[in-house]
Amino acid sequence: MFEARDAPYPELKKTHTMAHVGRPFTDFKPPAAAPVWAAIEGLARYNVLVAALELDVFDTLQRIGSATLEQINTEITASPEHLRTLLDSVVVLQLLDQVNGIYELNDAAKRYLVSDGPATMAALIPVAPGPHDNWTRLADTVRNGRPATPIEDDPAAFYVPLVEGTFTTMYRCAMRADLKLRYSALVAPRVLDLGAGGAPWAIAILHGNPSATAVVNDLPGVLPVAERKAVEHGVADRVELLPGDFHTVEIEPESYDIVVLGHICRTEGAQGSQHLIERAFAALRPEGTLILADYFCDIDRKLNPHAVLMGATMMASTVNGNGFTGQQFSEWIRAAGFEAIRLIEPIGFQQQYVATKPRHLQLGVVPGA
Ligand SMILES: C[S@@+](CC[C@H](N)C(=O)[O-])C[C@H]1O[C@@H](n2cnc3c(N)ncnc32)[C@H](O)[C@@H]1O
Repeated sequence: MFEARDAPYPELKKTHTMAHVGRPFTDFKPPAAAPVWAAIEGLARYNVLVAALELDVFDTLQRIGSATLEQINTEITASPEHLRTLLDSVVVLQLLDQVNGIYELNDAAKRYLVSDGPATMAALIPVAPGPHDNWTRLADTVRNGRPATPIEDDPAAFYVPLVEGTFTTMYRCAMRADLKLRYSALVAPRVLDLGAGGAPWAIAILHGNPSATAVVNDLPGVLPVAERKAVEHGVADRVELLPGDFHTVEIEPESYDIVVLGHICRTEGAQGSQHLIERAFAALRPEGTLILADYFCDIDRKLNPHAVLMGATMMASTVNGNGFTGQQFSEWIRAAGFEAIRLIEPIGFQQQYVATKPRHLQLGVVPGA
C-alpha cells in the first residue's frame, strides 16, 4: 500500500537512510541523468546536422522559402517519413523553425548554415571534429598516448577542407581585429603568417592596409588554398608564398612588423608552441606585434568547455596536440621576450594574445631581476 512518507526513489532507500547520510532519506534527490543524456545525444545532434547539410536542407529552404514537408521533398527527394524525422530533429536543435507544419530558416540557420550565409560554417561542420573514425578509437588513443592515424600522416587531406571551412570566421575575426590593433594605420607593414591556411589574417591585413605586404607560409599541399584566396580577394600581388614546415622553414630575422600564429599552436604541444613563439619573436622587428590565436582553457580547465573539448579534439587526431591554458600561453609569450601582453576577442569565441617585441633588448639586464 502507498505510504505518504515513502521516498520517491525507493531503490535508494537501503543506502540512503539517515544513518548513512545523516539526514532523512525523504530529502534525498538523486542527480539528474541529463548530463549523461546530453553526451549520448551529442552524437545524434552532430550527425543530424551533418545529414541536413549533406541533403542541402538549408540551401533548399533559402531558395524556395518557407515550405511544407512535401514541398521540401519535391526538391530533396527522400523518404518522406525519414525526412520529417530529420527536419523535426533539426528543429529541436533550434536550427530550423516549424510552425503548423511549415518549416523555415531561423536566424541561426540563415547566418551559419546556408552556404553563403554571412558567417557560414556549412563547410566547416563536417570536418571540424577531425576524422570521425578517430573518435571511435579515443580510448585506445588515451591508452597509447597517440592516435593510430594522426592527421600528420596526410596533413593536406585534412587541412585543405578545414581551412576552406574556417576561412569565413577567421577572416571576419581578423577584419574586426583592426579595431583593436589598428594594423590599417601602419606604414607599409610586413606580415608573416605561419601555418596560414587560407591566409585569413594576412589577407585581412592586406585588405585593410593597401601599403602592407605579406609572406604566407603553409605546407606545400595546403598553400594553394592561400594562393587562391589571395587572388579572390585581389591582394595576390602583395603576397609571397613560403612553402614548408613552420618549425624549420627559413625565416628572415627581425624583418616583420606583424607575425601571426593563427590556430597553429594547439596541435604542436607545449614544446612546439614555445618553439613557434620563439620563431615569431626572432622574425619580428623591435616594436613588432605577435598575434597568437587559439582556444584558451581557463586556469582550472573547466570553465570554458569549448576550449577543453577542443583540446580533446586535438588529442583524438594529432600526435602532440592538446588544450592549453591562457596562463601557459602568456607565460610562454613572456618567456620568449615579449612585453605588453594582452588578450583580445574581436568576435565571440575567437580570442588572440597580442604582444609586442621590446624596442631595445637591454643588454646585461636579467629578465625578471
Ligand atoms: C587550424 S589551421 C589554421 C589556419 C589559419 N592560420 C587560421 O588561423 O585560420 C592550421 C594550419 O597549419 C598548417 N600546418 C600544420 N602543420 C604545419 C607545419 N608543420 N608547417 C606549416 N604549416 C602547418 C595546416 O596546413 C593548416 O593550414
